[in-house]
Amino acid sequence: MEIIHTISALKMLLTPLQKADSKIALVPTMGALHKGHLSLIEIAQKQAQIVVCSIFVNPTQFTDPKDLEKYPRPLAHDIKMLDDAGCNVVFMPSVKEMYPSFPTPENWLIDLGPAEFLLEGEFRRGHYQGVTQIVKKLFDAVQPDVAFFGQKDFQQVLMIKNMVKFFNMPVEIISCPIIREEDGLAMSSRNIHLSAADRKNALVLSSALNYVVAHYQQEELSTLLTKAKAMINETPGVVLDYFTIADGETLLPIENKGAAHPVALVAAKVGETRLIDNMLLD
Ligand code: PAF
Repeated sequence: MEIIHTISALKMLLTPLQKADSKIALVPTMGALHKGHLSLIEIAQKQAQIVVCSIFVNPTQFTDPKDLEKYPRPLAHDIKMLDDAGCNVVFMPSVKEMYPSFPTPENWLIDLGPAEFLLEGEFRRGHYQGVTQIVKKLFDAVQPDVAFFGQKDFQQVLMIKNMVKFFNMPVEIISCPIIREEDGLAMSSRNIHLSAADRKNALVLSSALNYVVAHYQQEELSTLLTKAKAMINETPGVVLDYFTIADGETLLPIENKGAAHPVALVAAKVGETRLIDNMLLD
């Protein structure tokens, strides 16, 4: 496995492979890898000859400096996991490599459509500009044919698809299934911050989503939402940001069950840790 730190070294390695028509996959991550990330690598390996995984804790997508500071960075462990998984290339650039003028912010915006400002976008203003700008830079550096993202960040995948459309980039974006712990908790690099009590309380998120999935055909949308929200609000240590049943393309709340691609999405603070989760309803 090659470990690369600069865009020029990455291009030197990948250009001959691209010229020889090797299909290149990119799995962008911020490290602190878990089985969810490994599942992305595994899916990518089935679809491409070369799998590049990037590890970059992107400062511009954090809206809370404390969150950035405490973001886990177990680099040696991450590299071993990727090597064991048979990943071909790890791209680990510095902040200066990706943002030459850092800490002076770059002055450009991407039109991501109105969904940018809903849900996560409402609670974390500017977050999706940070995410899509770094993913654009990673795509420019790697020039992948295909890129893989976890469905857990449902809105992120939508925003990245919108960014790709906006720039007309020749990259296929693939959303991969959420990987859960045995008891249902969606895997996340942030789960490491949960205390034993938080960990138990956090299960209410997947339970509320499962309730909606199980009763979607029989119950009214308003009843489903009331019950799911009540389950979460009644759980100690959990503060709900939102629970919605939305159109998977606009992220606007659906008004009837005939809507295409319905998805239930939730975000809540569990103790000090903010978690998100979702389940598809079709
Ligand atoms: O999902 C993540 O880990 C990040 O948001 C991403 C896509 C790697 C961009 O920094």
